[in-house]
Amino acid sequence: MAHKILLTLGLLSATHALPSRWRNAVVQRGAADVTKEYDYIVVGAGTAGATVADRLTEDGIKTVLVVEYGTVAEDDSFMPPWNIPAPQFFYNLTSVPQPETNNRTFSVANGCVVGGGTAVNGQLFNRGSKHDYDNWARFEGNEGWNWDGVLPYFKKSLTFNKPTPEMEEFGITYDVEAAYGGKTPIYASYPPFQYPGQKIQWQAFAEKEGVVVQKEHADGHAYGLFWIPTAMDPARAYNRSFSGQGHWIYVPPRENYHLLTDHRVIKVNFKRRQGIQEAESVTIIPRFGNSTAFTVKAKQEIILSAAATRTPMLLQLSGIGPKKVLEAAGIKPLVDMPGVGWNLQDHSFSFSTFNFTTDVWPNPAQLTNNATFRAEAIAQYQQNNTGPYAAYVVASGLFLPAPAFLQNFTQQFVKELLAQHPAGYLPTDLPRELVAGYAKQMEILLESFKSKTSAIFEHLFSGSARGTAILVKPFSRGFIKLNPADPLGEPIFDYRLLSNPIDLKLHIRMAQYLREHYATSPTLKPLSPVELDPGPSAKTDKDVEDWLRAKMFASNGHSCGTAAMMPRELGGVVDGELRVYGTKRLSVADLSIVPLIPGSHTMTTAYAIGEKAADLIKARAGLGV
Ligand SMILES: Cc1cc2nc3c(=O)[nH]c(=O)nc-3n(C[C@H](O)[C@H](O)[C@H](O)COP(=O)(O)OP(=O)(O)OC[C@H]3O[C@@H](n4cnc5c(N)ncnc54)[C@H](O)[C@@H]3O)c2cc1C
Ligand SMILES: *[C@@H]1O[C@H](CO)[C@@H](O)[C@H](O)[C@H]1NC(C)=O
Ligand SMILES: *[C@@H]1O[C@H](CO)[C@@H](O)[C@H](O)[C@H]1NC(C)=O
Ligand SMILES: *[C@@H]1O[C@H](CO)[C@@H](O)[C@H](O)[C@H]1NC(C)=O
Ligand SMILES: *[C@@H]1O[C@H](CO)[C@@H](O)[C@H](O)[C@H]1NC(C)=O
Ligand SMILES: *[C@@H]1O[C@H](CO)[C@@H](O)[C@H](O)[C@H]1NC(C)=O
Ligand SMILES: *[C@@H]1O[C@H](CO)[C@@H](O)[C@H](O)[C@H]1NC(C)=O
Ligand SMILES: *[C@@H]1O[C@H](CO)[C@@H](O)[C@H](O)[C@H]1NC(C)=O
Ligand SMILES: *[C@@H]1O[C@H](CO)[C@@H](O)[C@H](O)[C@H]1NC(C)=O
Repeated sequence: MAHKILLTLGLLSATHALPSRWRNAVVQRGAADVTKEYDYIVVGAGTAGATVADRLTEDGIKTVLVVEYGTVAEDDSFMPPWNIPAPQFFYNLTSVPQPETNNRTFSVANGCVVGGGTAVNGQLFNRGSKHDYDNWARFEGNEGWNWDGVLPYFKKSLTFNKPTPEMEEFGITYDVEAAYGGKTPIYASYPPFQYPGQKIQWQAFAEKEGVVVQKEHADGHAYGLFWIPTAMDPARAYNRSFSGQGHWIYVPPRENYHLLTDHRVIKVNFKRRQGIQEAESVTIIPRFGNSTAFTVKAKQEIILSAAATRTPMLLQLSGIGPKKVLEAAGIKPLVDMPGVGWNLQDHSFSFSTFNFTTDVWPNPAQLTNNATFRAEAIAQYQQNNTGPYAAYVVASGLFLPAPAFLQNFTQQFVKELLAQHPAGYLPTDLPRELVAGYAKQMEILLESFKSKTSAIFEHLFSGSARGTAILVKPFSRGFIKLNPADPLGEPIFDYRLLSNPIDLKLHIRMAQYLREHYATSPTLKPLSPVELDPGPSAKTDKDVEDWLRAKMFASNGHSCGTAAMMPRELGGVVDGELRVYGTKRLSVADLSIVPLIPGSHTMTTAYAIGEKAADLIKARAGLGV
């Protein structure tokens, strides 16, 4: 019986990382080659890519080849404790120096493994608010992507597990009816343990002016104070749940679903018909050893799911992108499209530190400071899958709209935004349509900024005193482009962090809000919080600014937007059905298509994009959805 085929093309030494139940199949089929032609080729077996491939092969008929640069990882490839992925599962891309943060460079975190980001990420399983996705639909052509258009796909993309009775007792709230109900084996769950300090922190925020407490965030109410599930599977010792499992390892054998690992797609090949570039095949090279290239054809469509960091690079290598960038890299432009690689958005953050000097017991510090406590926690996890180690991901979030944390500064910020010229903080040579697209984004973001249902500032907490302050609706835009000296090598990646100065000002206010909270909250007082960093000597906004420039981070690993779903005359790259402009049979299904980054960590949005993309692709092929 032919099973799902994992082709390593002679690289049998790589099979040690394969799931044991497939090992035999691989050894038997190891020398086999890929078929010359498939119905669909998906580039990247990541979050969205594996989702698309799983759905397209469900009928058992349509043949799909997924090409993935990384390898397959099973649970035992993740290092204990607990679920921290090994460096081998990451890319090692670094940004160019960022002038607003003392020319520091930042690593661009990205999963390089079957499962992509979900195999290596922080497992926070949250969605943006209704407001965020309704914003997407404000671009002409994107009407199907408002909240009502994406909610069914969010629901479909996972199985939700209710918290344990003890955790309900503790205070975790949820609403299955409004937010969940799907059966896909990707699991969102609550850990069976919380520290008592979490409750005190929650209370301290809940009583603040302007903070709305939500029973459930995932039904569109992702603003205020709420619980966030973790991508973990209680039936498997609360281990990580990720797309490489749910959409590949756990998929019943399907002869029509082929996965080629340790291989890189370097180009999409086109044939020009009636003035349109029609995608026909991909060129593939092995990652290791013999690097002879080969091509595989797609009868129906080629789907790029290589992540916002790689999809635009692949388009550029294929001749789709800004003419100047392509020509500099010696690539013949087929479709001049300046938006390919532009519009990069991520969630920058600062991390101030505090300490509860009279903390309640137990608290997270015990895991590092108290060997007895740690030994007990390990035993609890190993024997019963419970205790602190089952709760390794932060579970509560404060997601504040601008008026809630800016308070009397709100008007000043709105005035400053209104006074900005759209081109004011963009590269001076930016093509006209990209400026027009940014102007439209500014118009939308200004309304989000004034709104009480759109998060701008995120803070996470889970019993320890720490000051994560994440800017979830940035105004700065970065880009990614081929390195002209080495087009196939690592691309040039520029966050353009804080290039719009309003982002720095927002970071200052967010950091000041948190330190003020720790310093003045009556509910936190019994814990005797003290500020360690930036510390009492950094008093003024200017002091905080200097601290931010020296220490803040560019990214949460949430790269989005580099092949945006927007009208072409606004610098968009794909239409509302995810088809690349100027081409046929070529689409994008990953976070590259995001026009405006949602106020949430990004994995759930990538899953939903994968689910919706599969339905769009089936519909245009005349297949049942
Ligand atoms: C360290 C880290 C922590 C994070 N924490 C969280 C979190 O807690 N919660 C959350 O919601 N989100 C988190 N994220 C973000 C989230 O995981 C990603 O945004 C999301 O998974 C991206 O999905 P994607 O489908 O767009 O791309 P990916 O999942 O990255 O998939 C792209 C795939 O394409 C492959 N590929 C690329 N180029 C090629 C090529 N040329 N040929 C073949 N294959 C190729 C890659 O190897 C990869 O497997 C985190 C990300 C990182 C990196
Ligand atoms: C990144 O570096 C690690 C070593 O730190 C390595 O194992 C891994 O293969 C590298 N990733 C890629 C994509 O080359
Ligand atoms: C950053 O580098 C640029 C170019 O090398 C230089 O002009 C600038 O002064 C540097 N800025 C800082 C803060 O070091
Ligand atoms: C959970 O993951 C660990 C490695 O992190 C692995 O050893 C263990 O077998 C897994 N448990 C289950 C039940 O899958
Ligand atoms: C490399 O692989 C190609 C086919 O993919 C084969 O034709 C060629 O002989 C191989 N070269 C070596 C040195 O093994
Ligand atoms: C934090 O507080 C604890 C007491 O709860 C104390 O033992 C520890 O030294 C403090 N840490 C720092 C860095 O001040
Ligand atoms: C360390 O942990 C043990 C076991 O939970 C507990 O009994 C003890 O009081 C802790 N010690 C301190 C100093 O907190
Ligand atoms: C595991 O659960 C059993 C049954 O509730 C209990 O007796 C045992 O003490 C638990 N083990 C640990 C390490 O907590
Ligand atoms: C807002 O109020 C604080 C005092 O609560 C004051 O220090 C600050 O200057 C005020 N800001 C503006 C813009 O009015």
